[in-house]
Amino acid sequence: MSFFEQILEAVPDSTFAMIEAFKADSNGKKVNLSPGIYRDDNAKTWVLPSVKKAKEILQADQNLNHDISPQMGYPDLVSVARQMTFKDTLDSRTVTSMQTISGTGANHFIARFLSDTLQPKTVWLSDPTWDNHPKIWRHTNPATEQRLYPYYDYKTSTLDIEGMLSTLREKASRGDVIILQACAHNPTGLDPSRENWEAIAEVCEEKEIFPIFDSAYQGFATGDADNDAWAIRHFATRVNATMEFAVAQSFSKNFGLYGERVGALHIVTRTRDSAAKVEGVLKTISRAEITSAPGFGAKVVATIIQNPTLRGQWQDDLKTMSGRLRDMRKRLYDELTKRHTPGNWGHLLTDIGMFSIMGLSQEQVAILKDTFHVYLLPSSRLSWTGLTSWNVEYVAESIHRVVTS
Ligand SMILES: Cc1ncc(COP(=O)(O)O)c(C=O)c1O
Repeated sequence: MSFFEQILEAVPDSTFAMIEAFKADSNGKKVNLSPGIYRDDNAKTWVLPSVKKAKEILQADQNLNHDISPQMGYPDLVSVARQMTFKDTLDSRTVTSMQTISGTGANHFIARFLSDTLQPKTVWLSDPTWDNHPKIWRHTNPATEQRLYPYYDYKTSTLDIEGMLSTLREKASRGDVIILQACAHNPTGLDPSRENWEAIAEVCEEKEIFPIFDSAYQGFATGDADNDAWAIRHFATRVNATMEFAVAQSFSKNFGLYGERVGALHIVTRTRDSAAKVEGVLKTISRAEITSAPGFGAKVVATIIQNPTLRGQWQDDLKTMSGRLRDMRKRLYDELTKRHTPGNWGHLLTDIGMFSIMGLSQEQVAILKDTFHVYLLPSSRLSWTGLTSWNVEYVAESIHRVVTS
């Protein structure tokens, strides 16, 4: 008998299951609107021009070697990651930063670190959230209770800021953790306004909750990386600059470096003494889990940000990506309203970033996939990256037929 016969069968990950189902679909009209990976108007993965140039520079460098990075990561990457996230707020705060295996690794490391140190009773997740947040926390620390705070009002497709604030005020306790998404919220495409962020920060302070910003889309929301870091910098500087929090940063989307797994974790502490201890714990976790993060993607990002011409190109690349997504929002909105498709579509124009929730039932999502070969996640999250100028009419017509049948 095998040692492993008693294992319960794992539930497949819905995003990866969808990608496999799409690959296996031989229908010529198929459209994949499920993965959060930027595609160009030919539905092809886009290598950013700034990334292409950075790779040329690296490949021409006779001194490029494959040495292992220090424990906290490739120093130039760590330095640019800090600058991109905090900019001049770094002057007033103590921040411990390390390179991670992309955003997933940063989320895992902070879950591990907090489980070993703060030992939170509860982690608060937005309803809904990126489907990996609950998995990461369950995997890292099953003893931490997971609770949802209201975020998305499904009836009106708006942010339920009052529900969020009152739930935290009434139910959160000192030392709980809350996961906030810094911008371009996955899966709703809905971000708090600056006024909302101030109120959220106030509740976190009042209730002494430890916030984790998941920053996976910096630059994708507005096309401007500084604008998209506003909430983080606000938390860093408000009220005598004393709030302690963390940022899990990914470079997958904003540099199109999905497979290179480049990320960083930043922990903002009140004192230098705490920072030194934090660094020690992070090094211990890192040694046991990865020893050190991968080099090549980190060098690509650092080369771009440290070179003013490449940095300018990258800022243009961000505008190209976020601009194309905005165009697709308008195109689909126009196609649906032209057909008088029943539903609430106004939010498609005002949602931000890669995703929107289409407000379709699971059954409608299944018909879209099985009959029309249009793939959305079961939650009816649509990733704008799969829409193109040549498939948008087909997608609109498919949604129209499903909704009206
Ligand atoms: C909200 C959110 N956080 C983190 C990530 C992490 O992505 P990665 O591990 O590819 O950097 C993603 C990716 O989809 C995401 O949507």
